[in-house]
Amino acid sequence: MKPVASSMVPEFVAVVNEVNKMSENKSVKMAFDCAGGDFERAGEASSKIKKMLQRLGIPADCVRRIAIGTYEAEMNVIIHAGGGNVAAEVFPEATVITVTDKGPGIPDINKALQEGWSTAPDYVRQMGFGAGMGLPNMQKCSDEFDIQSKVGEGTTIVMKFKHQSEDL
Ligand SMILES: Nc1ncnc2c1ncn2[C@@H]1O[C@H](COP(=O)(O)OP(=O)(O)OP(=O)(O)O)[C@@H](O)[C@H]1O
Ligand SMILES: [Mg+2]
Repeated sequence: MKPVASSMVPEFVAVVNEVNKMSENKSVKMAFDCAGGDFERAGEASSKIKKMLQRLGIPADCVRRIAIGTYEAEMNVIIHAGGGNVAAEVFPEATVITVTDKGPGIPDINKALQEGWSTAPDYVRQMGFGAGMGLPNMQKCSDEFDIQSKVGEGTTIVMKFKHQSEDL
């Protein structure tokens, strides 16, 4: 594929470069460190990833699913893990979100995946979190979901989102 011509507008050049990278089958990457307990900046990583996906022209319903899954994983590292890293890798066909932390880990993953199961403390619940719906939502909105967790070592979540649904 021929590279798309760039213009003088820096913002546009950046997008064109990203699209060209994708058309060469390379991916576009973005990663953010999120500080534990930082509710002021909570949601920033997922919102920046959402903006990049919109600029790259990823279908709106897919951007919506990615934004939901990424936000839930970002909030979990901020609330439960003392912080972590939120990374997005955008391929032409799919976006992969990887969220890692070196927090306490999850002793019983099956329990944590159940709707309504939460260890969120009262002050977190008073802020509107702690319904025990984050992990089930991540599973529902992604096409592939993987969680690895070890007590005392941390947790890694990988979600894959296809850009076009197969039944189109
Ligand atoms: N990154 C993590 N590190 C340690 N524990 C976690 C992590 N993510 C989730 N958990 C544990 O799994 C439970 C369920 O997580 P989930 O996101 O489903 O619900 P929640 O965060 O408690 O509430 P909600 O997401 O609805 O605000 C959490 O209460 C917590 O005990
Ligand atoms: Mg949660």
